[in-house]
Amino acid sequence: MKTPITVSVTGAAGQIGYALLFRIASGAMFGPDQPVNLRLIEIEPAMGALEGVIMELDDCAFPLLNEVVATSDLNVGFSGANWALLVGSVPRKAGMERADLLKINGGIFTGQGKAIAENAADDIRVVVVGNPCNTNALIAMNSAAGVPNDRFFAMTRLDENRAKSQLAAKANVHNSDITNMCIWGNHSATQYPDFTNAKIKGQPVTDFIKDQEWLEGEFISTVQQRGAAIIKARGASSAASAANGLVDTVRALTTPTPAGDWTSICVCSDGSYGIDAGLIASMPIFVKEDGSWDVVPGVEVDAFSREKIDASVQELRDEKAAVADLLA
Ligand code: NAI
Repeated sequence: MKTPITVSVTGAAGQIGYALLFRIASGAMFGPDQPVNLRLIEIEPAMGALEGVIMELDDCAFPLLNEVVATSDLNVGFSGANWALLVGSVPRKAGMERADLLKINGGIFTGQGKAIAENAADDIRVVVVGNPCNTNALIAMNSAAGVPNDRFFAMTRLDENRAKSQLAAKANVHNSDITNMCIWGNHSATQYPDFTNAKIKGQPVTDFIKDQEWLEGEFISTVQQRGAAIIKARGASSAASAANGLVDTVRALTTPTPAGDWTSICVCSDGSYGIDAGLIASMPIFVKEDGSWDVVPGVEVDAFSREKIDASVQELRDEKAAVADLLA
């Protein structure tokens, strides 16, 4: 039996938490021979609900689930963590400005970044899901003294999966026929799902989809607005697909990327592709055999893509400026 790894999850009693924890405990995230310890972090008012979730985890008798700790103390919650999955955040309420939302969540991610730096394992990796996830990750990264910047990620894999599914449906092929799909920029309505570099059965998308107007218009807006469409239809925001996106993200980070392909993850930019160094932005990433990752070089950015990427990066700059006082 392998040594268990420790996975800390914030917002564990929330919607995404409820869809996520069972998949971690079943082995879907780290594989069928990797035992896990779960450290579940919630705010005080949600501790009762979290107890119920833990009762359900117990009732699954998962062979891979080694230990479960429930806490609202960040030092306990991130103690020995190999992975920190930061799902919890405060949702936008009626009348709340975006800047207020950034500040409120900023306070949360400052504390979590600090607690991660002080308590987590040396190999800690942090994936932020709670929105605004790019800027929350930026704040956590800047608050986590001593933890290298390349350990911080924010999630656009759900958007990538949504984009693949839209292209597959339009081209009447299977999802698995779509590769090289990249989401660029912010996980927000400005994100750019890049059909110009995506491939269908190894060929340019335009070999299969001749409707350029659809690609440049409805395809992009459907992916950008998918979260809102799900809220309208379901009366609640995407949860199972978001949890699945996080399973896919962690698996992508722990498995070498198939040759020639890439995956979308928001990482700390090194200045590639005209994205300011230090911003947490989504771009094409590949993971190497040794587990390290890099930005895929040489992806062609045409004039159409440039304009879309620039607009999303500008939004990230604006978000960064709004929380400047939280970035130590
Ligand atoms: P939810 O409201 O059902 O659950 C959030 C949970 O976080 C609650 O249980 C709450 O008590 C907890 N929480 C709040 N502040 C906390 C703190 N300081 N420490 C620990 N826990 C805290 O929300 P849901 O549906 O689970 O979504 C969670 C977040 O994920 C939201 O911000 C949502 O916008 C975001 N999201 C991101 C996606 C992405 O692709 N990046 C996709 C879908 C959702």
